[in-house]
Amino acid sequence: MTYKELGLVNTREMFKKAMAGKYAIPAFNFNNLEQLQAIIMACVETKSPVILQVSSGARKYANQNLLKNMAKGATEYAHELGCDIPIVLHLDHGDSFELCKSCIETGFSSVMIDGSHLSYEENIALTKKVVDYAHQFDVTVEGELGVLAGIEDEVSAEKHTYTRPEEVEDFVKRTGVDSLAISIGTSHGAFKFKVKPGEAIPPLRFDILEEVEKRIPGFPIVLHGSSSVPQDIVAEINQYGGKIENSAGVPEDQLRRAATSAVCKINIDSDGRLAMTAAVRKVLAENPGEFDPRKYLGPAREKLKELYKHKIINVLGSANRVE
Ligand code: G3H
Ligand code: 13P
Ligand code: ZN
Repeated sequence: MTYKELGLVNTREMFKKAMAGKYAIPAFNFNNLEQLQAIIMACVETKSPVILQVSSGARKYANQNLLKNMAKGATEYAHELGCDIPIVLHLDHGDSFELCKSCIETGFSSVMIDGSHLSYEENIALTKKVVDYAHQFDVTVEGELGVLAGIEDEVSAEKHTYTRPEEVEDFVKRTGVDSLAISIGTSHGAFKFKVKPGEAIPPLRFDILEEVEKRIPGFPIVLHGSSSVPQDIVAEINQYGGKIENSAGVPEDQLRRAATSAVCKINIDSDGRLAMTAAVRKVLAENPGEFDPRKYLGPAREKLKELYKHKIINVLGSANRVE
């Protein structure tokens, strides 16, 4: 089944509108039913387009056929809730041509080929191969230049290798990618910056972003690693028996600023994980006899929905963008 038959769209039109309207599309990861329900409820209630992201780990965890049919179900669920929001099913951090091809065959409408750990020329060759294949099926492709610090799907890097603006034009031209993820100081996970108490989090490198924009004007840029790691949620986890120390994320005002630039897609996963964990811990700590998963996953889903609505309205600016 093609993604169009599943009721999904690719990112092309979405990014064009996001660029013109100076906002960013939320790219939320999902692995299970409750995460998907929370995403769709939040996006319908705020009238926001959305990118549903599946990592290769999520694909292993949840099964690709189930995920595909969940995405199909998501389009029907959105309709039932009263708003046919545009929905993309996107492979997050694809690491091989074969994985991208398999996802395209399964019904994904967009794939990321992450060649950022390869040499520049190898990255170009691999990305172009995926683009040439994907475009035959009108599937859009995200590439990456520069390496984020932290863990990227089992590959970890000690330090950022910031994107080199002098490479982006050549990369985009030679690969034919539809969007480009860049490294300007964000990183994956809940421990993004090693700052001492009272020390400020280092700001994102907006100078690099501006230089990139100058070289490829109007081209959609993607920010990975954009969780803000809300400290009230971390405190709630710790209050109810968790132990998360020295966590830090990207301040939301910086992401708000990025969303008004050529950044058209902002990836958020860790914040959702934290919100769900806080809610589950609270319910179980307060009701030690509870063993019905709906009784703790239900509140987790509710907290997740509220988090996503906040991101959409106050950070990404993607609310009320669907007629
Ligand atoms: O960038 C990675 C995403 O947060 C997905 O994480 O590979 O653990 O599913 P995962
Ligand atoms: P966070 O870990 O900051 O949520 O980043 C998610 C991401 O980039 C998924 O590709
Ligand atoms: Zn990522």
